[in-house]
Amino acid sequence: MNFSLAKQAVASVFHRLGRSQSSSYSTWTYPTTVNSTTPQFIVTPNNGFLPHSDPLERLPDDFHHLESLLQKMPLQIKTDSGSYKEGLLSEGNFGETLVKELPVYDVANITDSALLMALFRDYTFAASAYLLEPCDLGNRISGNFGIGRDHLPASIAVPLVKIANKIGAKPFMEYAQSYALYNYRRKDKSKPVTYDNLELIRQFSGLPSESGFILVHVDMVAKTKGVVEHVIGSLNAVAVNDRLNFNKHLRELVTVMKEINGCMEKMWKRSSPSDYLKFRTFILGTKNQMSIFPKGVEYRGTDLDGPQFFRGESGANDSIIPTIDNFLELTKKMPKNEMTNILKDFRSYRPLDHSNWLKWVEDSASELGIEKYAKLSTDSLQLYIMLLDEVRDFRTRHWNFAKEYIIKRTAYPTATGGSPMASWLPNQLYAVLRMLQDKSLVYRMMMEKEDPKLDEFVTKEYYNKISDQLQSLRKDMLSMEDIYGRYRK
Ligand code: HEM
Repeated sequence: MNFSLAKQAVASVFHRLGRSQSSSYSTWTYPTTVNSTTPQFIVTPNNGFLPHSDPLERLPDDFHHLESLLQKMPLQIKTDSGSYKEGLLSEGNFGETLVKELPVYDVANITDSALLMALFRDYTFAASAYLLEPCDLGNRISGNFGIGRDHLPASIAVPLVKIANKIGAKPFMEYAQSYALYNYRRKDKSKPVTYDNLELIRQFSGLPSESGFILVHVDMVAKTKGVVEHVIGSLNAVAVNDRLNFNKHLRELVTVMKEINGCMEKMWKRSSPSDYLKFRTFILGTKNQMSIFPKGVEYRGTDLDGPQFFRGESGANDSIIPTIDNFLELTKKMPKNEMTNILKDFRSYRPLDHSNWLKWVEDSASELGIEKYAKLSTDSLQLYIMLLDEVRDFRTRHWNFAKEYIIKRTAYPTATGGSPMASWLPNQLYAVLRMLQDKSLVYRMMMEKEDPKLDEFVTKEYYNKISDQLQSLRKDMLSMEDIYGRYRK
């Protein structure tokens, strides 16, 4: 593995300043060349949190039965003429067909990382469709999920567990390595990864809204090259006390987060709120879903001991917000409660290098004291607040999504990732709002307003806006008691 250019840059700055580097801080390193065994998900400023190469679209002929099952699987399938026909899930025939048609493929000798990732994606799609097919039918017929299948047959479980072990994942559908970030193809390979140039590889429903839902995530994550580049740049700048460079990278981070939030806003149009529950059933997990999987799931033919429980696919396993939380040292200020424990548990449901990255950002920001460093300069502090405001903006919009796409339409109390609908998202939004109200942030800047360098961002109106938002979140949280009857402060 080669050292990154960033590392060289830091070394040269140290040299120029005649300083020695802080004893344990070392910059993020990543491979500059890849080969067939390099993991698909490596965090670099070239690809951000997306895989370094486009996802493998089709399985080779050796896996013909799995490929064919997944092609026949969705609730509805678009034909070449543009009309729709019913797929296996539509009448609840997927599980039975899978048991008849799918052999136990041997995956022991596979080392090619793209094939391993495509197989992981495809076996996890098959697993979730198999386990949740009865719940989807039940939900469509009576509005109740009922009980999911309690086991995975050996034809899914055996290869899935082997592949999961090889790539260091849990043997269950995941946000990055299955449903979202390894599930897109570029229509025109000469053009970049942007929403209009993307199509899905796999889906459960065949609805345009499922495609829109997934591809908005991909579109946002395609912008994370800038997040990675400027988080590394900011940390390196603090390590050598280079204020100008620190501010420059902070400003870039604010810009890229604004672009990401702009892409997120398009969700409203690209995926209809009234369609969401039509495909959401298939991305539920098996952990904390006691009414659906009261006894967990048995992985037949494997050495996994007893019934298994895993969190489901969720944007909570995306790395954008956890990166900024860690970078701004917000994570350590989250309340010490069960909700925050869930936030931390989600960190393990992602590619290994995403977890390593998050830990590196958290440790480095803490060791270098990013918040303290930002507070030493009015310019830096303003940029720090502006970045924090982008996290507020993200979590505010996101809470509005949760209310409109889910809470308004179902009283089922648990999200796909296994967190409580009523209280988990508000826990983090509340924490961010409270931080902005901290006397050492916006309030302090308001008091220093005479400084001509300050722009119009940190005003009394802004401070009042945060107070109003806190009030309205408190109201939301009270109304959750009516919906779920189990909200706890
Ligand atoms: C219709 C749109 C969306 C809905 C209904 C939705 C729903 C949810 C829910 C219910 C959770 C709670 C965790 C769990 O599953 O147990 C969650 C968490 C999360 N989702 Fe989404 N989501 C949507 C779009 C997005 C998008 C586009 C992103 C972008 C990456 C995203 C990123 C996140 C993050 C970062 C969390 C953790 C929140 C935090 O740390 O406060 N979500 N989502």
